[in-house]
Amino acid sequence: MENLTFFNKAFTYTSISFLFLPFLVSVLCRNGTDTSPIVSSARPSGVSTQGLIFKDRRLAVVYPVIQAFKRTIFEDPFNRTGNWVGSDICSYKGFYCDNPPDNESAIAVAGIDFNGFSLAAPTLEGFVDNLPDLAIFHANSNKFAGAVPDVSKLRYFYELDISNNRFSGTFPTTVMGVKDMSFLDIRFNSFAGEVPPEIFNQALELLFINNNGFTAKLPANFGSTPVRYLTLANNQLTGPIPPSIRNLNSTLVEVLLLNNKLSGCLPYELGFLKEIIVFDVQSNLLTGPLPSSLSCLEKIEVLNFADNLLYWEVPEELCALTNLVNLSLSDNFFTKIGPVCRKLIKNGALDVGQNCIPGLPDQKSLQECAEFYVKYIRLCPNPPSYCGDNAARNHLEGSKTKTKTKKAPVTYKTLSKHKF
Ligand SMILES: *[C@@H]1O[C@H](CO)[C@@H](O)[C@H](O)[C@H]1NC(C)=O
Ligand SMILES: *[C@@H]1O[C@H](CO)[C@@H](O)[C@H](O)[C@H]1NC(C)=O
Ligand SMILES: *[C@@H]1O[C@H](CO)[C@@H](O)[C@H](O)[C@H]1NC(C)=O
Ligand SMILES: *[C@@H]1O[C@H](CO)[C@@H](O)[C@H](O)[C@H]1NC(C)=O
Ligand SMILES: *[C@@H]1O[C@H](CO)[C@@H](O)[C@H](O)[C@H]1NC(C)=O
Repeated sequence: MENLTFFNKAFTYTSISFLFLPFLVSVLCRNGTDTSPIVSSARPSGVSTQGLIFKDRRLAVVYPVIQAFKRTIFEDPFNRTGNWVGSDICSYKGFYCDNPPDNESAIAVAGIDFNGFSLAAPTLEGFVDNLPDLAIFHANSNKFAGAVPDVSKLRYFYELDISNNRFSGTFPTTVMGVKDMSFLDIRFNSFAGEVPPEIFNQALELLFINNNGFTAKLPANFGSTPVRYLTLANNQLTGPIPPSIRNLNSTLVEVLLLNNKLSGCLPYELGFLKEIIVFDVQSNLLTGPLPSSLSCLEKIEVLNFADNLLYWEVPEELCALTNLVNLSLSDNFFTKIGPVCRKLIKNGALDVGQNCIPGLPDQKSLQECAEFYVKYIRLCPNPPSYCGDNAARNHLEGSKTKTKTKKAPVTYKTLSKHKF
């Protein structure tokens, strides 16, 4: 961990940094010299300006930017800005300094973490975009509004979290085209309109846009970003899940699409998602049978299809997946279920309530099922399963070899407003 700095994206890679930011930051930024007087006027590197002496020229440059922003803050219930005075910017609450890559002996503001500060200001424009060495900006649960600042000119920038604020309008295009952006969290705002396809062309690892008012279809290039954690839940997205999702075969770990208006057949390309652990499309308008390719998802733990228009049988190979702990199929129109799946019901891992399965408790009425089958049945272009290694089948035959330590899913925490 000693080699990680704000300017090193390995930071994000290794351990979804947002989970640990407060801790890592305090480790990274403690420089041993913290307790000594910040700058003695005798120190040759000190930069004197406006009657203050700064540790570095780069700090002197951003000082007026920070002070100007501070004057626009009209709510600060926890007095977080109380110590934003004087030249020691690196010890201001929420500000973190580091040595920038272009000059290892310089000191610059590299990270900002205002998570939970509850600050209110009319805009972040003129602030964030005027901190040239900023790499990370986290501001979960504040009351910032206005336009999202243009971070595209910040050369080291890669993490933006403005979740649970008061932003509105269309998707913030100012965050697009940021070469190294890997982390974008704009959940719990009031953005609306389409999600521009260009955002999926960026090399994001994490994209959280849930709980906004996004409409329109998922774009065809949906699978073009190497994203690992994706939550689009609680919007009003429409259209089918694009087959390009197969391009996420080696990256996608968790995806939450619940509570949208997605429709059409489930693409058999879902079966290519080798790394997927959580797939949740509850409460959409998806229809068709479950593609048999789902039984290729060897790592899947949580699979939620509840409250859709799915029908036909529940594939036994799917129920046989070794790592599956929660398969939710309730409130659909399934009619058939085999012995392996019945075992899962017994274990409490499979919920098939409110379907059309004869002989099971808590099912839809015959009439409702019949009406559905007359109205909705149509074919889905799903070829037979192609899993080469027959891993699922092996399990069906009772060979259980793996014992793994499981990590708890992380994306469900994005469905509450505050930082995780
Ligand atoms: C805010 O914090 C500053 C510095 O920590 C302190 O001097 C000031 O008295 C505080 N103000 C209030 C209103 O508590
Ligand atoms: C950390 O300490 C070293 C050596 O004292 C110094 O060169 C460097 O600028 C300091 N970095 C920060 C961020 O204060
Ligand atoms: C690097 O930063 C130090 C400290 O601010 C400064 O004295 C030095 O001139 C800088 N070097 C270059 C090449 O800009
Ligand atoms: C992912 O798909 C690409 C292109 O189809 C393929 O070359 C690659 O081997 C696949 N990776 C995995 C881990 O399956
Ligand atoms: C399975 O997932 C559903 C939907 O998220 C949830 O309501 C249910 O409590 C979960 N069941 C178990 C046993 O974890």
